[in-house]
Amino acid sequence: MNLLVAPMTARGGLFVRPVAPPSDRRHRCAQAPPAFRLVSQVYDMRSGFAGCRYHRQVSVSVPNSETSAHHVGCAMCTGLLYSGETPMLGAECDFASRGQRCQNAAMSDKQESAVHNEVPEEAVPANRYASAPAWRSVDRYFAAALVNEDAALVEARESGARTTMPNAEVAANQGALLGLLAQIGGARRVLEFGTLAGYSTVWFARAVGDGGRVVTFELEEQNAVVARENLDRAGVGDRVDVIVGSAAESAQALIDHGVEPFDLVFIDADKPSNPTYLAATLKLTRPGSVIVIDNVVRDGAVSDEKSEDPRVQGVRAVVDAIAANHDLDATALQTVGEKGWDGLIIARRR
Ligand SMILES: C[S@@+](CC[C@H](N)C(=O)[O-])C[C@H]1O[C@@H](n2cnc3c(N)ncnc32)[C@H](O)[C@@H]1O
Repeated sequence: MNLLVAPMTARGGLFVRPVAPPSDRRHRCAQAPPAFRLVSQVYDMRSGFAGCRYHRQVSVSVPNSETSAHHVGCAMCTGLLYSGETPMLGAECDFASRGQRCQNAAMSDKQESAVHNEVPEEAVPANRYASAPAWRSVDRYFAAALVNEDAALVEARESGARTTMPNAEVAANQGALLGLLAQIGGARRVLEFGTLAGYSTVWFARAVGDGGRVVTFELEEQNAVVARENLDRAGVGDRVDVIVGSAAESAQALIDHGVEPFDLVFIDADKPSNPTYLAATLKLTRPGSVIVIDNVVRDGAVSDEKSEDPRVQGVRAVVDAIAANHDLDATALQTVGEKGWDGLIIARRR
C-alpha cells in the first residue's frame, strides 16, 4: 500500500488540491474504482497524512501511473482500500461524474468546470455527526418516497429547535422504522427513555393505535412542554404519558407500581445511563418484548475501547450487558444519513 500525500493549498479555510494543469486532464480516471466516493474534500495536513475530514486517518493516496498524479480516496467512504497495484483503466471517475470536485482525477473540460467550483462545506449542526451530501440526499429521497410524514410530524421534528437538544430527534426514516417495529411486534404498550420534542413518541403513539399506550420519560420540563404540544397536534395526546424527571427514577417508580409490562422499549436518553435503563427495562418487559437502543455507533467511536467519552462507554457497557444476558437476542445496525454515521441496537427478550 502506498501512503503518499499530494500537495494541497489552503483556500477559504478548506484545504483543496490545486486544479490540475490542462495537459494532465483526461476524460477517464485510470485509478478510481467505479464505486469511488469521497465525502469530503477537506483534508487535515497537520499530521502529514491525507485524512478525510469525516473519517480521519483512513484516507489513502495512490499514485496514478499514467499521469504521475495521485488519486486520494477515503477508505471508509469507499469501503475499500485500493493499492493502485491494479490500475482500473477505463473506470469512470466517480468524483467527476457526480459533479463533485475531483482531487486529482483527470477530467473533461465540462466536468472540470462543474467540479472545481467551490462547494461550501455544510456546517455540522449541533447534536449531529458530519454527513456526506450523498447520504443526506439518499435519506431525503427515501423519506420523500416512502415515509408518510404529515404536517404534525414535520412540525414535531422541526420543533426540536425549541428544545434543549436541537437536532437530536431520530431522522424521519428512523422514526418510520420505530413505528414499523412497533407494528410488526404488535406493540400496544411502548416505553421511551428520552422524549425531546416527542417526534419518535408520535411515531410510537400512532403505531400502538387507539387503546394503545406510550409512556415517555423526559428530564427537561421545557422539552416536555414542546412534546405535549406536538402530541396533541398529532391527535395522540390522550394515549401518551410524558413523565418529567430523571428517567432512572421514573422507571423505578413504574417498577415499584408493578405496571403492566411494555411490548417495546426505546432507550434514547443520556447515553452513560444506558446500562441502568436496560436493567430497568428488563423489569418492565416480558418475554417477546423488543428493546431498541439508539446512537450506539457514535461516528464510529463505539469500537474504541479506550474512548474517554462517557457516552461511548455507556454504549459499550450496555453492549456488554446484552451480550452477557442469555435471555436477549440482539444485533446492531450501522446507519448513515442526515444525522451522520450512527446506529441502533435491536434486542428481543426470549
Ligand atoms: C436524543 S433525545 C431524544 C430524542 C427522541 N427520542 C426523538 O427521537 O424524537 C434525548 C432526550 O433525553 C433527555 N434526557 C437526558 N438525560 C435524561 C435523564 N437523565 N432522564 C430523562 N431524560 C433525559 C434529553 O433532555 C433529551 O430530550
